[in-house]
Amino acid sequence: MRTAEPYRIKMVEPLTMSTRAEREQALVKAGYNTFLLPSSICYIDLLTDSGTSAMSDRQWSAMMMGDEAYAGARSFDHLEQAVQETYGFPYVVPTHQGRGAEHLISRILITPGQYVPGNMYFTTTRAHQELAGATFVDVVIDEAHDPAVEHPFKGNVDINKLEKLIGEVGADKIAYINVAVTVNMAGGQPVSMENLRQVRELCDEHGIIMWSDATRLAENAFFIQEREPGYADTSCADIVLEMMSHFDGLTMSGKKDALVNIGGFLAMRSEEILTKARELVVLFEGMPTYGGLAGRDLEAMAVGLREAVDDHYLANRIGQVRHLGHQLVDAGVPIVQPVGGHAVFLDARAFLPHLDQEELPAQALAAELFAHSGVRAMERGIVSAGRNPDGTNRHPALELVRLTIPRRVYTDRHMDVVADSVIELWEERDAIRGLRFVYEPPTLRFFTSRFEPID
Ligand code: F0G
Repeated sequence: MRTAEPYRIKMVEPLTMSTRAEREQALVKAGYNTFLLPSSICYIDLLTDSGTSAMSDRQWSAMMMGDEAYAGARSFDHLEQAVQETYGFPYVVPTHQGRGAEHLISRILITPGQYVPGNMYFTTTRAHQELAGATFVDVVIDEAHDPAVEHPFKGNVDINKLEKLIGEVGADKIAYINVAVTVNMAGGQPVSMENLRQVRELCDEHGIIMWSDATRLAENAFFIQEREPGYADTSCADIVLEMMSHFDGLTMSGKKDALVNIGGFLAMRSEEILTKARELVVLFEGMPTYGGLAGRDLEAMAVGLREAVDDHYLANRIGQVRHLGHQLVDAGVPIVQPVGGHAVFLDARAFLPHLDQEELPAQALAAELFAHSGVRAMERGIVSAGRNPDGTNRHPALELVRLTIPRRVYTDRHMDVVADSVIELWEERDAIRGLRFVYEPPTLRFFTSRFEPID
């Protein structure tokens, strides 16, 4: 028997429909950057799953109970209890969102000149590591860089690459290892429990701190339950706890797997790191009991942390992403395989083989998709990768367009419309032209760059 959403809809938000001419005009105004489009003209907004979740009635009612005291708010205790219960860490420091936590942990753990290995880069994470004086080193398995290769845990750390780095630079030159669960830039690909155990062992052997970018940890747990021998009968909530038991601490963007519109935190076991984080959080975010958030935000996050590890919610969530992905696969559209946790990623290199990577194929495809149907997606390729310290463009192996599915927001019918739109574009792909930069900011250029079509 088929299953449906484990919730029903109590409030709706009307969507606007637009004409192709209106969308083309909006694209010119936005410099062909989907980040610069007004959301009011986007019919189905798949720019990101970040901060775009629909909250539950329980979260909304918890918000009414927010304690807005400047210090010692009850709402902080609720968040702390929820983190202890769902992730198993004793200490929590809230931040305004994930990158706030990344900023603090990078400052705390990095001495300039050190290295931070990670299972593929993430834009803001690497930017903060570099800002603190570290060099990021990619230690994800090779399979992660190939969109067509099927692997159940494509986000795994390559233990040999990590060992090699330790051998080359020495353990004392490694600030910490940062393991993301799941790996966003690889296509929302999970890490296995076995791999976490192996990384932990190596870290213990060399005295290296093991940190997690836990942004999408609940989705990672679902894949472990589904794919890893021995976990079929373990709840996702228990799998999350076991995953986190391997780490010394985490950074969290609550905007994803805590089902809130804003919020994040650091969690850890070490009192020494806690003390340093509390010293810094007052400088950059706010008092250690609110970290740049309102009391009501902490309440909503406390409830969301528990809702997000529910087995039925997760099965439906990942099921919807697959509902979109499998329609594209059936039509022959090249996407990252297997379909990951939070998004379907179009392989823009294979979609537009007539474009060189310097002609920004993923950026061009995202712009064209919007013009075609009002579906907003995000470039995750050469533009997102930015420049090397010597000024040359980084050339990532993956040149992708991310169709990111917000949590509990759209129906499967919306996904059908997205699939139809991408498939129509696939049939007209030869006509799609490349783009070039007309404005480029010095950091995180994908957010605000402007482009124009190449004739
Ligand atoms: N880590 C990962 C893996 C992320 O995907 C993000 C955000 C962050 C850290 C930073 O968190 O946005 O709360 O400051 N990803 C969003 C996205 C922006 O669209 O993928 P943040």
